Amino acid sequence: MQPAKAEDRDEDNEWVGKVIDNVHTGEQYHEFMLASPRDRLVRDRFQKLALGLLPAGAVVLDFGAGTGIDARAYAANGHLTFVHEPSAAMGEYLVRYCRDEIARKTIVAVASPLTCKVQAVTANFAVLNHFTDHTVLFEELSNVVQPDGFVLASMLNPYYLGDARYGWWRANVMNLLRRGHYAIASESHIHRFAPRVVARAAAPYFRLERLIPRGFGWATDLYMFLLFRRI
Ligand SMILES: C[S@@+](CC[C@H](N)C(=O)[O-])C[C@H]1O[C@@H](n2cnc3c(N)ncnc32)[C@H](O)[C@@H]1O
Repeated sequence: MQPAKAEDRDEDNEWVGKVIDNVHTGEQYHEFMLASPRDRLVRDRFQKLALGLLPAGAVVLDFGAGTGIDARAYAANGHLTFVHEPSAAMGEYLVRYCRDEIARKTIVAVASPLTCKVQAVTANFAVLNHFTDHTVLFEELSNVVQPDGFVLASMLNPYYLGDARYGWWRANVMNLLRRGHYAIASESHIHRFAPRVVARAAAPYFRLERLIPRGFGWATDLYMFLLFRRI
């Protein structure tokens, strides 16, 4: 169902949601992301955080890897990188974009993340917003991430004030405060979560070690980063 009024449309939601429906090609997504200064900045911060946390030579799983932009950065920094990507459109472009790394086996595509044993799982740009609940996911990832390893995810910040111009945001403020979670009635299938709700789903396997942003950033940053440490 499309949002009824123009003011209810949210390009970020629609973009992230349509990707999995193959409405856009992987190439269009790729070019959009690389041409967007705001998204490049967010990606740069995420990659720097991930690379700073990874021990030398650590093995990574990029979960919902998209077109392989992050995977290629991890591989370039000496990390064997498994990629899991359910969208055929994204996966096809990933194979093109990362063909050299795939040939050298520094990037390896996996149909199921459960086959991997890694020190870290990364999920950049709202992958976890496609889930209605993260309990089963974190239980599964507990078998994938080695003890003391981590899951680093960037998710849409539900408190971002830039979204307050949309009717769906205003309609869901009370749901967010009461339940810490809401979904929008659109074709995007994107859910918003308060960090505490994701942290509860991650326990007892992972503890929330770091949450970014802090302070005023909760009003101004579209994305939040959550770092979970395997217990
Ligand atoms: C906005 S894209 C981000 C892609 C990539 N991580 C990046 O940084 O560009 C969201 C991705 O989540 C993936 N995704 C959606 N549902 C998923 C699921 N259940 N498991 C894994 N990935 C999923 C989509 O296929 C899509 O590639």
